[in-house]
Amino acid sequence: ARLVVLVSGGGTNLQALLDASAADPAGFGATVVAVGADRPGIAGLARAERAGVPTFVCRVGDFDSRDAWDAALAEAVAAYEPDIIVSAGFMKILGKHFLARFGGRVINTHPALLPCFPGAHGVRDALAYGVKVTGCTVHFVDDGVDTGPVIAQGVVEVRDEDDESRLHERIKEVERTLLVDVVRRIARHGHRLVGRRVLIP
Ligand code: GRF
Repeated sequence: ARLVVLVSGGGTNLQALLDASAADPAGFGATVVAVGADRPGIAGLARAERAGVPTFVCRVGDFDSRDAWDAALAEAVAAYEPDIIVSAGFMKILGKHFLARFGGRVINTHPALLPCFPGAHGVRDALAYGVKVTGCTVHFVDDGVDTGPVIAQGVVEVRDEDDESRLHERIKEVERTLLVDVVRRIARHGHRLVGRRVLIP
């Protein structure tokens, strides 16, 4: 399967996908063919360049409207003919043009156990609420914010001494493994949707 990965930051989830593909291309069943970002100069883009993967940047500020940006992002991604698109720490909401083109093939990873704590501050919100377990969710993207069908989840215990960054680091360790595993399974076996339930043979 051809993967396009979208990033906005450090790109450690991207790195896990690049490493899995390099270590065992056939076993992983997927190759990162391009990495896109919503801003230049981020570590995620540097990781792609080090791996020899083409990159592109699509900035909201370069377009007249959010809608025009969304259409341009869809065009840029389409040029790489992906089978699966992974939003790995991409901090923008994908719009209607993007989803019309790629809907059902876009995977996001979120640092909380959805449907609890959606949005940009999943770790902070879980900590503030006082839950004792949280984790991460890999899910398909629909037109809501972190509302699409859940593919897999990983659990992380909250410790008394946690702050947002310590908790997030432990979540990210679980998240990277989970994301690689999901991409491998879907790339190799495909999936079925039964209502909201994602079933992978
Ligand atoms: C991940 O925890 C992701 O779920 C969240 O931001 C983090 C991105 O980490 N939205 P990285 O850029 O992959 O290191």
